[in-house]
Amino acid sequence: MAARGSGDRDQDPTPHPGPALAGVGSGGPSPTGPELDRILATCPITEIGRIPWGSNAVFQVLLDTPQGPRLAIYKPARGERPLWDFPAGTLHRREVATAVVDQALGWELVPRTVVRSDAPFGPGSIQEFIEKPGPKAVPRGAALQEQLAQMAVLDVLVNNADRKRAHILVDPQGRLRGIDHGVTFHAVPKLRTVLLELGGHPVPGRWIRALRRLHDDPPARVALAAALARLLSPGEVAAFERRLERLLRARVFPHLDPWGGRPWEW
Ligand SMILES: Nc1ncnc2c1ncn2[C@@H]1O[C@H](COP(=O)(O)OP(=O)(O)O)[C@@H](O)[C@H]1O
Ligand SMILES: [Mg+2]
Repeated sequence: MAARGSGDRDQDPTPHPGPALAGVGSGGPSPTGPELDRILATCPITEIGRIPWGSNAVFQVLLDTPQGPRLAIYKPARGERPLWDFPAGTLHRREVATAVVDQALGWELVPRTVVRSDAPFGPGSIQEFIEKPGPKAVPRGAALQEQLAQMAVLDVLVNNADRKRAHILVDPQGRLRGIDHGVTFHAVPKLRTVLLELGGHPVPGRWIRALRRLHDDPPARVALAAALARLLSPGEVAAFERRLERLLRARVFPHLDPWGGRPWEW
């Protein structure tokens, strides 16, 4: 099979539960943050079912946790579709790197995500499963706009080449959560996003202040760079730091080409 580029799109319809594990809950009230990372990285995987509509091999897995069974999303490196513009076998690490940036900002836009090597089909990413919201939880109006702008800031920082609509979920608390960050952190600009209409608009002050806090905290930046260096190439870490500096200087979302900057939705 010819290697595709990150601009080629998977068939990614509206998210709904995968077939094999549909109806399984995530285990009720449960840990968050680093404790959730530990659960994702270490708890036994007891069931696995394929999600058939991803462009890469994507699985729902059931973890046996001290709080009960819990769903997660597993993307094995072996199942990553070859791309001409990203090194083979690195997409799952980019998923984790995006979560690491999100955590450094304290935003919780990205589900907790870890690298796991003892999973059924070999090393890959394991990500917190995001349940559907009830109809009343879906954000609207100004609250929605603010969260979309926040997602757009994250995408600029990580150079996300695939922010399509199906990659924005709403969680049961009504918060937007971004998924599918496999084609991120390229050293060359590759941003493609459904939010390209924000191009030229100012980044809301609240999000600029969050970037500034991270930028002006040398220990936090050193820790972030060290965490990213375990997942990305040195050139990609340096390019990330340049994007942070540039966005803080510009304070506006970048203009994208109306065609080239748009992800394919099908
Ligand atoms: N963290 C998650 N929580 C809930 N569903 C998810 C999550 N990650 C992926 N999915 C589901 O799996 C589908 C495919 O995942 P995606 O990350 O887009 O994979 P691919 O890299 O193959 O495009 C998504 O459209 C969504 O339905
Ligand atoms: Mg996808």
